[in-house]
Amino acid sequence: MQIFLDTADTQEVKRWLAQGIVDGVTTNPSILFQAGVGDPAEGAASLCALLGDRPLSLEVTSNDREEMLRQGRSYARWASNVAVKIPVITEEGESCLGVVHQLSSEGVRVNCTALLSFNQGILAAKAGATYISLFAGRIADEGHDPAETITRVRRWLDLWRHPAQIIVGSIRTVMDIQQAALAGAHIITIPPAFLPKMVDHKYSRETVRQFNRDAARALAQAARTAAAD
Ligand code: E4P
Repeated sequence: MQIFLDTADTQEVKRWLAQGIVDGVTTNPSILFQAGVGDPAEGAASLCALLGDRPLSLEVTSNDREEMLRQGRSYARWASNVAVKIPVITEEGESCLGVVHQLSSEGVRVNCTALLSFNQGILAAKAGATYISLFAGRIADEGHDPAETITRVRRWLDLWRHPAQIIVGSIRTVMDIQQAALAGAHIITIPPAFLPKMVDHKYSRETVRQFNRDAARALAQAARTAAAD
């Protein structure tokens, strides 16, 4: 399973790349806005420079499908590791699968996004998306169990040996991460704020403290024995 960071914060990307746990980054217009990134091209350039060949997802910013195609082609030229995020439908509920299909057939890596159901997931995969992004938190907002949706989509992909990969996003708690991992997510995209919570444990701290204390005691004892000889 891969871990992506759901952020446009380059400091956080640097910090967690150094820990060896980052396989890619996802963004969306809200994330770029919150990070104060005015020009997506500039934001993409600094993230791509950090990521090497790891993928960076960038979302189109239009509700018009022709404009989505234009932006998608343009993003894909910025760097070879860019995956273009295309929402599954427009604000009016019209299918964007044609955009997914067209960009994919041109060799662009597409991340079909804002998926909230099994049916949307399998259609996005059929249309040729490399990544299909299931929004766990928003599925739960609607009163459904995200783990069930993730498990079912994963089962369908495996049944038909389909190459699309599930990205689980819209993470709201550490428990969401655990459930997505066990439900069969290929990738979970995690807001960096959750990573310190995942790695920390008060009893691990105490355990490390005990070992360090005993190591110091052993050294002191060895020094006393050497002095007595
Ligand atoms: C990731 O690809 C999504 O854009 C993101 O996780 C959405 O999260 P939200 O539901 O908290 O906005």
